[in-house]
Amino acid sequence: MTYRFPAEFLWGAATSAYQIEGSLDADGRGESVWDVFARQPGAIEGGGDGSRACDSYRRWAEDVELVAALGLSAYRFSVAWSRIVPDGRGRVEQRGLDHYERFVDALLERGVTPVLTLNHWDLPQALMADGGWAARSTVDAFAELTVAVADRLADRVEWWITQNEPWIIALLGYHLGLHAPGVRDLGASVAAGHHVMLAHGAGADVLRAHRGAKVGVALSLFPCDAATPSEEDAAAARGSDGYVNRWYLDPLFGRGYPVDMREHYERALGRELTEIRDGDEGAIAGRCDVLGVNYYTRRVVAAAEPGPDRPFPWRVVGPSGDVARTDEGWEIAPDSFRDLLLRLHHEYGTPVLITENGGVFGDAPTHDGRVHDVRRSAFLRGHVAAMAEAMAAGADVRGYLHWSLLDNFEWSLGYRPRFGLVHVDYATGRRTVKDSARLYARVARDGKLPA
Ligand code: NOJ
Repeated sequence: MTYRFPAEFLWGAATSAYQIEGSLDADGRGESVWDVFARQPGAIEGGGDGSRACDSYRRWAEDVELVAALGLSAYRFSVAWSRIVPDGRGRVEQRGLDHYERFVDALLERGVTPVLTLNHWDLPQALMADGGWAARSTVDAFAELTVAVADRLADRVEWWITQNEPWIIALLGYHLGLHAPGVRDLGASVAAGHHVMLAHGAGADVLRAHRGAKVGVALSLFPCDAATPSEEDAAAARGSDGYVNRWYLDPLFGRGYPVDMREHYERALGRELTEIRDGDEGAIAGRCDVLGVNYYTRRVVAAAEPGPDRPFPWRVVGPSGDVARTDEGWEIAPDSFRDLLLRLHHEYGTPVLITENGGVFGDAPTHDGRVHDVRRSAFLRGHVAAMAEAMAAGADVRGYLHWSLLDNFEWSLGYRPRFGLVHVDYATGRRTVKDSARLYARVARDGKLPA
């Protein structure tokens, strides 16, 4: 099927500040939780950190040229919170704002629509004195950041993502301790997730005072399928969906936190969720003009007894066996992407922007100087086709932002996984456009998948 995308459909790529910028001491930047976390022995595979990354803080103009040369109409990036409010509260660093203003202006001059993420995980370290996202006061700190950035840029940035992946912040940052700030505490993780959602609400209120702002939050959504047709596994898949997806979707769209999942948390913690106060759900609801969807793969779930490392009665068991996978082992599941988009359409009735979708394929430049990443090209085709099918069936999708423009720092996995449309030689900073990017440029230019 050939599907033509609407002319105004955004075709772009995404990155985040800590993963690409480097220059951690430049222009008055304060420390972030990732600076501190990356220094802990064993925290990052290969021992790397974000001190150099893709050197994009200095090479920003080259990155803008790349986006423009590929003919993309949108670019999603994040501001580094601690470049703007280095101490977490109070003083605003104008040099940080100057940098992002130059960057946004350069994108706009080339006809590229900026999609600006306010928090892509690099919380100012100073806010850890109170507990970081586990502390309710961090919501106010985020509102301060939003005011500072919006005052400077809301006259020209239309698309805003307040928060990136609240579930991953809560799970990896505060429950499993695999991401900064490295906390391992289920209770703290519930609080953190809730405060990130409240911060979305607070940030949206600030942004909506600026005319024309389109506000969203990027959720990491994983369709959850039962391992077997048994009733137990069906309940497990439903529980897992509550944990990963509904816990964030439902309050955003006015349904409040789902009761079944609230009970799971209360059972696991042995207490009520007192961090969720009266009125909080109302402060989260109805503030999402466009839902950001980060989609990578699905989960296959089976019933299991809760245990020390398993707070809920289910576990992720697959997919097992012979399925197509990325180099990171994640199943390539475009059908689940289509079904997810249709579910969002039918159950939540929301417009969506694909804020991330991509995969790890380790291809490097060959003797001809090119990167023949055929599997990334196939991945792209499969997911763009799945999105087209969902749209043909009614889903309201406004754009697609591939993760990522560049190979970059993949958090605790360091520099090994390569997600980029553009290869980065980390020793020299040299960028090489991969074959997948050339294919994607044609998709963006023609508004359809080439045969
Ligand atoms: C989600 C995150 O938003 C992004 O930072 C990360 O690099 C990608 N997924 C790939 O794991």
